[in-house]
Amino acid sequence: MTYVTESNITDIVLDRWEAVPDQRFRRIMQSMIKHLHALVRDIEPTEQEWMAAIEWLTRTGKLSNEKRQEFVLASDVVGVSMLIDCINHRLSSEATPTTVTGPFHVHGSPNLPNGADIARGAPGEPCYIAGSVRNLDGKPIVGATLDIWQADGDGHYDAQHGGDEAWMRGVFRSDSTGAFVVQTVLPVPYSIPMDGPVGEIMARTKISPMRPSHIHFLINAPGHHQLITHLFKKSCPYIASDVVYGVKAPLISEFDLMPAGSVTPNGTIAHHAFWMLQYDFVLEPITEHASTKTSAAAQGCLAPGG
Ligand SMILES: [Fe+2]
Repeated sequence: MTYVTESNITDIVLDRWEAVPDQRFRRIMQSMIKHLHALVRDIEPTEQEWMAAIEWLTRTGKLSNEKRQEFVLASDVVGVSMLIDCINHRLSSEATPTTVTGPFHVHGSPNLPNGADIARGAPGEPCYIAGSVRNLDGKPIVGATLDIWQADGDGHYDAQHGGDEAWMRGVFRSDSTGAFVVQTVLPVPYSIPMDGPVGEIMARTKISPMRPSHIHFLINAPGHHQLITHLFKKSCPYIASDVVYGVKAPLISEFDLMPAGSVTPNGTIAHHAFWMLQYDFVLEPITEHASTKTSAAAQGCLAPGG
């Protein structure tokens, strides 16, 4: 029997954790132990620091529920959510890239006809999104579903708004030419929640807690990889410092300000100026090779968040 010393304890623990029948789970646990021991050896925490860490994790867990996920936020601000997204969506360079889902997606948004208004009186400057859903060959994808959600002009999502009706979200379908039109308001930058344990840590840094202006999309079409992404407003000052590292170059989009009297994508004449975003999404088809790769990568992995 070998008893532990500072130098042999990692090997003894790893040896004990060989006793895990599931190969993938064993690999996860042993890697976690290896990296956690390396972290502790690196920083040599005091017992007070270790208790502070446990107390922080406890408060983070207590604050997390079906409406608020503080652990997802913690994963976001250290770039782990984005790293998991990158690993799980290695698509061709011509396909529209993915980014984090974020904590504000609500299931069961209402189905809306093309051109419908998701803002319906919400604060903000009028904005239209018009575009299409296409495959890698540029052919239109008919009947793709586009689940769209965003913050209103005050920076609030449905979950933060508190009303009974759907707020700033809806599900659209691409038409017979692959096109879609959404009426909304201009998204604005917003801060991640700073009133919890993650905010407490961020407040001890000089890192900006802001997310750049963006709109969320979850797009599905049969035979194609699901696309969860955002479109970001090009001129937003927080583009280069997104606190969750979600910005990818092809997702930065020009929002054009159209003067009053311009024709909207719905074919009406606007009485007021409005913002216009044009974007064509490109979905990658699921091939046999890709589906094998995707299921292997997804197996046993933590769910992506953001
Ligand atoms: Fe968002």
